[in-house]
Amino acid sequence: MSALEGPRRHFRLTDSTNERARDLALAGAPHGTVVTADEQSAGRGRHGRRWSAPPRAALLASAIIRPLGEEHRLLPLAVPLAVCEAAETLAPVQCRIKWPNDVWLEERKLGGVLIEARPPEWAVVGVGLNLSVSRDALPPDLRWPATSLGHGVAPEAALGALRETLGDWLAAPPEAVFRAFAERDALQGRMVSWEPATGEDPGGAGEPDERMVGRASGIDARGNLLVELPGGERVALGSGEVTLRL
Ligand code: BTN
Repeated sequence: MSALEGPRRHFRLTDSTNERARDLALAGAPHGTVVTADEQSAGRGRHGRRWSAPPRAALLASAIIRPLGEEHRLLPLAVPLAVCEAAETLAPVQCRIKWPNDVWLEERKLGGVLIEARPPEWAVVGVGLNLSVSRDALPPDLRWPATSLGHGVAPEAALGALRETLGDWLAAPPEAVFRAFAERDALQGRMVSWEPATGEDPGGAGEPDERMVGRASGIDARGNLLVELPGGERVALGSGEVTLRL
């Protein structure tokens, strides 16, 4: 087991560590390069959402993975596993994953992952992990209620733990990734609803803007979420296509 080693670039304030890591990747920075920041002025979340945290209250880190090969196809599952494990080495907690890659602690969002890639050259793996964010400091319009790790964990310690666990999970065999993800799958057996992508309406009766519902039943070999519809049919949802609600 080996940590994700590489140069580190730290900013007191930057727009987005993912953006800075992307620039470094384009300029040829090596595998394992990590960009961190005390604070971001334009932190990015998935689906174009923003990500914000007060200075030094969260780990804000983006790592460059290169080259991007077939062995990285489970990166979206491996990274939240690494974040869960890092959190658990730092504090007496047990984390779960809300597909595709939100890290949950006691039904609240502890961290998020934003992967931006230019295959086959590189991927930037962005991780935001709340450490000591007071609830009042979080924007009121966050989609999921957020939480923090607490226990006095500092960003430096969190980065050290994350480098260790990322190294491990990037090298893990697919079956280990699937097994660990299934053990941490916060959606397993729960009812979820989503907006159908254009043309996806197996019952044929839905209005275009009607949400669909079903019971989450694990993930498939491509990392899609499997959902059992009320009629018994199973559909696979891709992470880019849907926004989920519980
Ligand atoms: C999400 O849950 O929507 C993903 C959030 C990812 C946030 C992190 S913070 C560090 C890195 N830089 C960014 O701009 N975003 C990611």
